[in-house]
Amino acid sequence: MGFLTSSIQVRARYKRCRFEWMEHLEQTRAIILKAAQLAPRRRKALVFGAGLLHDIPLRQLSEMFEQVVLADLVHTWPCRLEALRFPNVKILSCDATGAIQALAVVARRPGLPTPESRPVAFVDDPTLDFTVSVNLLSQLGWVPGVFLSKCRSPSQIEALKSQFVAAHLDYLKRLPGHTALITDTLWTEHPVAASASPLERWDVLSGVCLPEPEHAWDWNIAPAPERSPLAHYVARVFAYTDWKSAAF
Ligand SMILES: C[S@@+](CC[C@H](N)C(=O)[O-])C[C@H]1O[C@@H](n2cnc3c(N)ncnc32)[C@H](O)[C@@H]1O
Repeated sequence: MGFLTSSIQVRARYKRCRFEWMEHLEQTRAIILKAAQLAPRRRKALVFGAGLLHDIPLRQLSEMFEQVVLADLVHTWPCRLEALRFPNVKILSCDATGAIQALAVVARRPGLPTPESRPVAFVDDPTLDFTVSVNLLSQLGWVPGVFLSKCRSPSQIEALKSQFVAAHLDYLKRLPGHTALITDTLWTEHPVAASASPLERWDVLSGVCLPEPEHAWDWNIAPAPERSPLAHYVARVFAYTDWKSAAF
């Protein structure tokens, strides 16, 4: 569907933008550890969007919890090898939306209704004490949207993205144990010429509003010339160490 390509692109951009991303990655790791301290017990920790592990404090989590599950659609070999260094860390190929397989069917049979996200993985797991969703929320509908662009209208794709985002937020409320959320929310295009004002803004959560964040920062996600030689693209990141309380 394009998830592997997307992961390879993120890895390549990380290598080019390591310096510009450093503060965001450090903030993310710090929030994950702060949130993990709030877990009622230290049996199982689940990390959604673990992916390339750039922003995951893996050693500390493996020391804090009996088991750490790294959940993502794509686990590259370097990340698998990194995980192998910790006996209590498990790699899990898992679709956080629960809808990706159905989307693949719909692309072949366009007459079928667009599937909705209703994730259930781990909802009945009594040993799950901590879940964190790491820079994943805005991505949930991105690749599926591109994948379905030949058989669905732009408004149908926007509705799918919005439903995926809302379903994930609800999922984080339904999961047992403590849950936390870190996500980019709004992207702004800043001209390279410092005197010019911002050019354009995008809501990458497709209209789904988040509560006032506990922590927020800017992530220079695509400094010039990544997307354009004339502009830097900056994402506003919101973080919640206790999603269930924040979303109440
Ligand atoms: C921007 S990355 C998150 C940052 C990542 N932790 C890193 O180290 O760079 C988004 C991650 O979400 C994953 N992802 C996208 N859709 C997903 C889904 N439906 N289920 C699980 N993971 C998904 C991607 O594979 C990717 O690894």
